[in-house]
Amino acid sequence: MSFPAASPSAALTSVWARLQADPHDTEARQIWRGLRESGAPESAACFQAFDAQAYAALTRAASAGAGLDHELRQLAEAQVVQCHALTKEGVEVGEPVVLALAADELLRALLTRDFCTNLSLELYLTRVRTWLLARFQPARSVTGDFRPLVVALALQGFNNEYVLPVSADEERALAGVLAALADALTAGDLPTAESALLLAAMYQPCGAMPASELIGERTWADDVESLINRTLREPLEERGLAAGLPTLGDVVDPVARSVRAQYEANPYPRWLSFRRSPRGTRERLLKLRPDLSEFTAPGQILVAGCGTGKHSTSVALGDPQAEVLAVDLSFASLGYAVRMTKAYGAANVRHLQGDLRDLPKLGRQFDHIECSGVLHHIKDHAAAWGVLDQCLRPGGTARISVYSRVARLLVSHVRTAIVREGLGNRPEEVRRFRARLLTEPGWQSLLPLLVRMNDFFTLSMTRDLLFHVQEHQYSVEEIERITTGLGWELLAVDLPSRLRAALRADHPCKSATITTFAQWRQAEPAYVGCMIMFDFWLRKRGG
Ligand SMILES: C[S@@+](CC[C@H](N)C(=O)[O-])C[C@H]1O[C@@H](n2cnc3c(N)ncnc32)[C@H](O)[C@@H]1O
Repeated sequence: MSFPAASPSAALTSVWARLQADPHDTEARQIWRGLRESGAPESAACFQAFDAQAYAALTRAASAGAGLDHELRQLAEAQVVQCHALTKEGVEVGEPVVLALAADELLRALLTRDFCTNLSLELYLTRVRTWLLARFQPARSVTGDFRPLVVALALQGFNNEYVLPVSADEERALAGVLAALADALTAGDLPTAESALLLAAMYQPCGAMPASELIGERTWADDVESLINRTLREPLEERGLAAGLPTLGDVVDPVARSVRAQYEANPYPRWLSFRRSPRGTRERLLKLRPDLSEFTAPGQILVAGCGTGKHSTSVALGDPQAEVLAVDLSFASLGYAVRMTKAYGAANVRHLQGDLRDLPKLGRQFDHIECSGVLHHIKDHAAAWGVLDQCLRPGGTARISVYSRVARLLVSHVRTAIVREGLGNRPEEVRRFRARLLTEPGWQSLLPLLVRMNDFFTLSMTRDLLFHVQEHQYSVEEIERITTGLGWELLAVDLPSRLRAALRADHPCKSATITTFAQWRQAEPAYVGCMIMFDFWLRKRGG
């Protein structure tokens, strides 16, 4: 996307003015993305200094229904850091700064609506949470000025699945808070229970608190009600929705059972909204291959390994004419998926629990298959590719994404350390190890790469990224061997903009789109260490 204004600084001014006028303005967002992708120094400078005009516009956009997409959210987080000087060398945690943070509408919108992806902000908020717990524990009334921040931090905790480290002092204080909560609930002392609940909710969901059934039954102030809805009632609803789902039968493969157990405990991904409006399959493919104009929108779509439904809901909304079948191993993920699919009004998705390798039992073929981030978690992945082939009609298309060996060199390095140290994958172990990555000098050079990934900022995502029970990594050559063996042809490789720019700069293959394995093999070194998945489109011959 280019930016239409005369200069980058004029373009920037227009972005802030447009967002002020209309917080949903999609063109303003595109102009901002264009500025980022063009590498304009004016856009980089926005991350380095407080800008009042940008702050006001971001506050308005963050608080509006659509919220912020990834690129603007990163800027908004950086602006909060600049505004309050929340760097390592910056202000000490104390009443003035905590009150200033509590009064900051942009910060509260960011914490409430998404998970934080800015390390400076995360590290500072970890200290703020500790300070608030110490100040109000075990159940002192959380006074009006502080309360909005406590509620926002509690929702942030739920959004990031309590990924922040908890010190031994905090654990002791939290135990006291939980005891006070249980006593107050039993005694019917709601004001004390409310104070204890607010404090504890910064560390765990209401559903995990003692006497959670009593919490769900009582009526509370509006802000506490919304906290209870998100962290107790919605998860209960998801359990009910998952229990009623059809299934493909027992999962028998022991590795698939371990994978399933991981996603039952840690459904992936925790998502709260779409960053951009979903686009249809045809539009997505034609963007990469405008020459394939004969391609028609698919009527029957399979999303194999739909996870928590971000993927399948997006496909269903993008192709409202299609019937979408979304399959996953994990009931917990599917429960989340069903609730979110309903919330987004996508009526054209059916959900099914089971191992995708059992899909041939349905005796169905699809026009299009989406399978993202799944095949590399299946031990016998060759068999899984074969099943996808059985489920795809001749002439049908597939969009697949899988781990690249070279892209994940850094992750492999971290995973080796985890195995060498014999670390387990329980939440406290993942949390502790993540905190070490943030603070131990030995990891500092890797951090900038890890934090570039959204996957580092929630507990389930960190477990998925670094602690997975089953992971295979592909080379382009292996993908070529498998897909050629199946008689599928490569249509296009989808490259994120930063890789496209790198390729265009230092690679003989100047074409914006890779459409052959020879081009892709040549481009493979550009993926080294970039952590991006291989993301590509295929077509089954025939039809
Ligand atoms: C990393 S998540 C990706 C979810 C989703 N596709 C996305 O891109 O957001 C991997 C998902 O694959 C599912 N999965 C792994 N092996 C599977 C199998 N054999 N059959 C069905 N689903 C599987 C897991 O339960 C998990 O929800």
